[in-house]
Amino acid sequence: MTPEIDASALRGDAPTQPRASRSADALLGDPPVRTGRGRATGKVILLGEHSVVYGHPAIALPITSISARAEATTTAQASRIDSALFHGLLSSAPDRLRPTVTAVRAALGADDPALGGVHVRIDSDIPSERGVGSSAAVAAAVVSAVSQARGRTLTPDERFDLVQDAERAAHGSPSGLDARAVCASGPIWFRRGTVEHISVGAPLHLVVADSGVRGRTREAVESVRALKQSSPAVFDHAISALSALTTRARIQISDGDVEGLGTTMDDAHRHLGVLGVGDRALDHLATAARAAGAPGAKLTGGGRGGCILALAHDPDHAAELVARLRTAGAPAAWTTHMEIA
Ligand code: PMV
Repeated sequence: MTPEIDASALRGDAPTQPRASRSADALLGDPPVRTGRGRATGKVILLGEHSVVYGHPAIALPITSISARAEATTTAQASRIDSALFHGLLSSAPDRLRPTVTAVRAALGADDPALGGVHVRIDSDIPSERGVGSSAAVAAAVVSAVSQARGRTLTPDERFDLVQDAERAAHGSPSGLDARAVCASGPIWFRRGTVEHISVGAPLHLVVADSGVRGRTREAVESVRALKQSSPAVFDHAISALSALTTRARIQISDGDVEGLGTTMDDAHRHLGVLGVGDRALDHLATAARAAGAPGAKLTGGGRGGCILALAHDPDHAAELVARLRTAGAPAAWTTHMEIA
């Protein structure tokens, strides 16, 4: 684990020049050292997983309690990375870090190699392979930090494009949902690559709980495609139902109808089960959440492992759900809160 980055790293401050480096560099005639910082959160899909693959909308939210942070400093030397997984030159990073390496290179873009490299330090508490957006969040933090260190401020679309470069290295052909959601400040409506912000009529308090079973999104997506071939009527019914529930959820979020949203989540969990992407560990956690008073709970993301999402009444209830889900066997659980907006 790399040391925690200081609190200012979370603010995405303007590039800074450390005092000591500035005077040393001036003596040596090197360009000044500049520092850039970036941060992005985890993400969770509220409604619309799997149906989104077939052109229907999805709603995703940032998980505000977990994040990836990056700090980049310019260097006259070759670029290097310090992260929990690897410490060393960018050029010798293992394949596992391909998305991160892609993010650094994408952010450096066509800069003159004579400018030297960047030293990127990454710190993240978002678990990987749980469908909570780890790769996109790390990429988003990195591209912001590197661009800022090089004196560039990215627009949201520029940042998105660079994160998508890294996501392609991670997942082949990502929809873009993760890349948008990890940079969002509230719920987003995502359809065929475009995003809209959703208005929130009452505060939303949610808990994401890890089943401890590694999510298998690619396998789950393939199994749904196989169902489309083998049982088109079952597939069509479930996908249309999920699409309608997503539209209903948007209205319920805007109206502040928490109880209604809970029922919508329960219904979506059932239809996702019909699609064949449920699993016993997910069912067990969703049942435990409802027994602890959650107005609704469902699997989230690809399914066949990964996480569930449960709705809570208020922050205290969210904290109680975390405890109850941990007791029910979840190795980790996080809260996320959306304010009226
Ligand atoms: O498992 P996650 O959080 O990466 O979500 C996958 C969502 C799917 O709809 C199943 C696939 C996709 O590409 O949208």
